[in-house]
Amino acid sequence: MKTKNFIALTLAGFFSLALITSCGGGGKTGSESTDSTQVTEQPAEAAAPSAEQMALGEKIYKEKCFVCHQPNGQGIPNVFPNLVGSDFLLNQKVLAVTQVLNGSLKVTANKTVKYPAPMPPQVATHEEAVAVINYVLNNFGNKGGYVTIDQVKDIVIDPR
Ligand code: HEC
Repeated sequence: MKTKNFIALTLAGFFSLALITSCGGGGKTGSESTDSTQVTEQPAEAAAPSAEQMALGEKIYKEKCFVCHQPNGQGIPNVFPNLVGSDFLLNQKVLAVTQVLNGSLKVTANKTVKYPAPMPPQVATHEEAVAVINYVLNNFGNKGGYVTIDQVKDIVIDPR
């Protein structure tokens, strides 16, 4: 599935789907199962970003993310997830960018731990989201590769 379709499907389908399931449906809802809205194609390995982009990512982390994920990226157990070695971050880079843009409520792929509160949207542009995700992918001991603007350009930023 292409990212564009994924986004369209997520936007169009998720709310109705969430309603159906939360109203006690619970079972299979035809072809649009919750799982299929969460599967995203993994992009090919991306080249390292510029020093400027990494500096922007660091700035954003130190302004916003550290409050919850802590200055060392390790979070607080069962409250804010550890970003160091995070399976979701390392393996679902496009979804991680989506989460930084739109918050965690609609992004549930590969998440095994339920946190008491969702992560709110953090940044307003694809550039900022990519910069900060590349920063956390490659700091605190992470060597997670990179994501590019091109790979996330189809992510629709929710209206605020
Ligand atoms: C207000 C607290 C808060 C702030 C600020 C915050 N996060 Fe989060 N973050 C969370 C919570 C809570 C979760 C878990 C959400 C879930 O799984 O539903 C999370 C999850 C994540 C995850 C997925 C990790 C995993 O293993 O599930 C990533 C990646 C992430 N945050 C990155 C960031 C980045 C980058 C920033 C800054 C731009 C940021 N967060 C700012 C609270 C926060």
